[in-house]
Amino acid sequence: MNKDIAKVLLSEQEIDSIVTKIAADIDRDYAGSDKKLVLLCILKGSVVFMGDLMKKIKLPVEIEFMRVSSYGVSTASSGRINILLDLHRKDLSECDILVIEDIIDSGRTLSYLTEYLKLGGAHSVKTCTLLDKPSRREVDFTPDYIGAFIPDEFVVGYGLDYNEKYRALPYVGILAPEVYENR
Ligand code: PRP
Repeated sequence: MNKDIAKVLLSEQEIDSIVTKIAADIDRDYAGSDKKLVLLCILKGSVVFMGDLMKKIKLPVEIEFMRVSSYGVSTASSGRINILLDLHRKDLSECDILVIEDIIDSGRTLSYLTEYLKLGGAHSVKTCTLLDKPSRREVDFTPDYIGAFIPDEFVVGYGLDYNEKYRALPYVGILAPEVYENR
């Protein structure tokens, strides 16, 4: 285990089970749709989850990417989200968009993106997150697919970072406090 990880929260095996279950749920829920199922990965943290999830979904899927940034939870009173990389499709009315996130915290990103994509004319918009920290919610938002509820700990790995590090760890772990307290 990486020396900076205090505790493994979700092992590789646990993540694999979670992703398998979500993929089966998605296959079941979208089986009757005649629209294009588009997995929309929100960079960067969701890229590992997205890669694993798309391999397990049996329905045909297309993939897209967006990158957004908020002004940070502590200063997010305006709720403003910056779009750094946008989605450019002219066929949104023919698309079932499924937004893929690694984690939901305040809820501002997914809340904003859902409205943004609906206003853009998507046929349907649903959301999927690997991790949910419900104790941190600032806006009322519930994703359609949730992998695991987690406590309010600083988690890294499986796409999640601290200063761009630890994204490639194959598990989700709690970062040892001394790593960010002594920086
Ligand atoms: C994380 C995560 C979500 C957002 C969730 O991204 O991937 O996009 O924060 O927070 P919220 O519910 O409070 O809006 P981050 O800004 O860390 O970017 P990254 O994925 O590129 O690391």
